[in-house]
Amino acid sequence: MDKNKVIAIVNQKGGIGKTVTALNLGYALSETGKKVLLIDFDPQSSLTVCFGYDNTDNIQTTIYNLMALAIEEKSLPKMEDYIVKIGNIDLIPCNLELSAIEIALVNVMSRETVLRAIVDEIKADYDYVIIDCSPSLGMLTINALAACDSVIIPVTPQYLSAKGLELLLKSIIRVKKRINPKIEVDGILFTMYAERIKLSKEVLSIIQEAYGSHIHIFENKIPTSVKVGEANMKSKSTIEYDPKNKVSVAYREFAKEVVSL
Ligand SMILES: Nc1ncnc2c1ncn2[C@@H]1O[C@H](COP(=O)(O)OP(=O)(O)OP(=O)(O)O)[C@@H](O)[C@H]1O
Ligand SMILES: [Mg+2]
Repeated sequence: MDKNKVIAIVNQKGGIGKTVTALNLGYALSETGKKVLLIDFDPQSSLTVCFGYDNTDNIQTTIYNLMALAIEEKSLPKMEDYIVKIGNIDLIPCNLELSAIEIALVNVMSRETVLRAIVDEIKADYDYVIIDCSPSLGMLTINALAACDSVIIPVTPQYLSAKGLELLLKSIIRVKKRINPKIEVDGILFTMYAERIKLSKEVLSIIQEAYGSHIHIFENKIPTSVKVGEANMKSKSTIEYDPKNKVSVAYREFAKEVVSL
């Protein structure tokens, strides 16, 4: 194991490609021989559904169950009892029950670090642990920020909210000060980026000007393709579904950038 790096894919804005990024980054890394664990940390469970679960209610052990155990300071079950293997990738799945965790955490001491306690126990087995976050800055996302080494922020030109990005960066700084001093921002990843559209270029230059000096902007930008949606429907990553597609090529190149960090 060369890295044992834990990366959270975060943006409180919904629908901007977090889950697609987590899945394709995980797939691209595993293709190059890295051992990868994905954690679905969004009650919407999109990532779990991407792995082919039609009915997430029936899943035996989810990240919610593990957190409930960690809250009670009970030990975790054996890894094979909660880690699902799909091809070369490992997944800790999720279902809607995770939405109840915010309330369960209210009276818990160290409630920001419940996920960290779990991740710390298992990360030694992986090169990369990738956490797919929910579109919020609530206690779930704070747990992900507390548990990770670094953050990747997907941003879509069409839906850029400068205020939203500012709030997200503030949360990261707060977590860095109080709970997780080692956290770094790996960078901003442009998704659904259309090179030829003026808006994309404008948004890129706005972000470069505002943040370029202190936050890395990934060289590779992810274009838009209908194959992404098709792949989702077939419970596959875009790379697996259509390896030569421009989105697949971009995610592979992006994964190389991530490895080189
Ligand atoms: N590069 C792309 N090209 C075309 N469609 C894309 C691309 N990336 C994501 N999408 C589509 O956009 C939608 C949102 O993507 P995704 O689920 O990854 O976003 P998200 O940020 O995880 O959303 P949420 O915050 O709700 O979890 C999905 O329907 C997905 O198929
Ligand atoms: Mg998602």
